[in-house]
Amino acid sequence: MEKQLILVTGGTGFIGSHTTVELQQAGYDVVIVDNLSNSNIDVLDGIEKITGIRPAFEQVDCCDFQALEGVFAKYANISGIIHFAASKAVNESVEKPLKYYRNNLNSLINLLELMPKYDVKGIIFSSSCTVYGQPSEENLPVTEQAPIQKAESPYGNTKQINEEIIQDYVHSGANIKSVILRYFNPIGSHPTSHIGELPNGVPANLIPYLTQTAAGIRECLTVYGNDYDTPDGSCIRDYIYVVDLAKAHVAAMVRILDGKSEESVEIFNIGTGHGCSVLELINAFEKATGVKLNYRIGGRREGDIEAIWGNVDKANKILGWSADTPLDDILRSAWEWQKKIANL
Ligand code: WQD
Repeated sequence: MEKQLILVTGGTGFIGSHTTVELQQAGYDVVIVDNLSNSNIDVLDGIEKITGIRPAFEQVDCCDFQALEGVFAKYANISGIIHFAASKAVNESVEKPLKYYRNNLNSLINLLELMPKYDVKGIIFSSSCTVYGQPSEENLPVTEQAPIQKAESPYGNTKQINEEIIQDYVHSGANIKSVILRYFNPIGSHPTSHIGELPNGVPANLIPYLTQTAAGIRECLTVYGNDYDTPDGSCIRDYIYVVDLAKAHVAAMVRILDGKSEESVEIFNIGTGHGCSVLELINAFEKATGVKLNYRIGGRREGDIEAIWGNVDKANKILGWSADTPLDDILRSAWEWQKKIANL
C-alpha cells in the first residue's frame, strides 16, 4: 500500500523533528515546511541518520500564502498536517506582540484555507497547557474541561486564539477534522543524540539552562523561587519526554486518518500526569547523570505559574497512548545531547 503523506510545519524544530522521526518509523512519508527562522537545515541529516529516510523539505514561511499553496500543489496527495511552526518565546512575545500575532495566526489561517481545496483531511495543532493559566487547587491535575483563563502573554494568547479559529472554522462547516494537543513541558532528546533541543542564545527554559550549566557554559542555574505554596517551595510542572510527546502525534494522526474521531475537533492534554518540582528535577538530574550541578535559589520569575500538571486520562484512553519513559532516562538523554553539541 502506498504510504500516506504528512505535512509537518516546523519540522526542523525541537518537537517537529522528533515527530518526523516517529511518523517515518510508523510508516508515513513526511514533507517538512520550515522557514528555518529558529532551526537548522542540518536537522535533516540527524533525522536521516535515525530513520534512514530523508524527509522532503521545503524552505517556506507558512505566512506566505502563495509559497505555501505551491507546496500543496507540488505534493498533491497530502493526507494530514501537523502544525508546529510558530514563534514561541514568551518574553519576546511581550516585547513584540505583533510579530507573534502575525506569525502564529496567519500561518494557521493559511493552512486551514488550503486544506479543503487540496482535500487534506485533518490537522493536529500544537497547543499548550498555558491556556489553563494557574488552575485552582480542586482543578489539579488539570483536565481538558478546566476553564481557560486570560493568557499571561501574547504567545499564550496566540495558542488560545488559534484554538478558537479551528473551532470556528470547523463549526462553519469546513470538511476537516482537527486534534488540538495541549502540551505540558516537553524535555529531553532522542536516545540516539542525532537530534535534540537547540536553543538560541541564553536559554529561558529550565532543561537547556540546566544542561548548559552542567556543561560549564553557564556558571550557575537560578531556581526561580523557593517560597511557593508547594511541598519544597519551588514550582511544579509536568515534564514530558519529547519522544513520548512525538508519539502522541502519531496516535492522533492515525485517529484522524482512520476516521475514528468522534467530534470534528478533539482536545487532549499531553503530559505524564505527574507533577515534579524544580528542586526535584535538579536532584533527579544529579542522580541520573552523576554530575553535580551549580545552582542557587533566586527570586520568583514574573508570570510563572506556581503549580500545574495534567490529567491525561482522556489521551490514555482514547488515543491509547501514554508517556512511559522514566524521568532518569529523559534527563540522561538531555545530558547526552548537551555533551554532544558542546563537544564534551
Ligand atoms: C519550568 C520551571 C521556572 C528556568 C514555558 C511556556 C510554555 C512553554 C514552555 C513553549 C518553572 C523554572 C526555569 C531557570 C528556573 N511553551 N526555571 N530556572 O515556564 O513552565 O513554560 O515554556 O514553547 O508555554 O510558558 O517552562 O522551562 O521556562 O520553566 O527555576 O533558569 O523551571 O520557574 O518553574 P514554563 P520553563
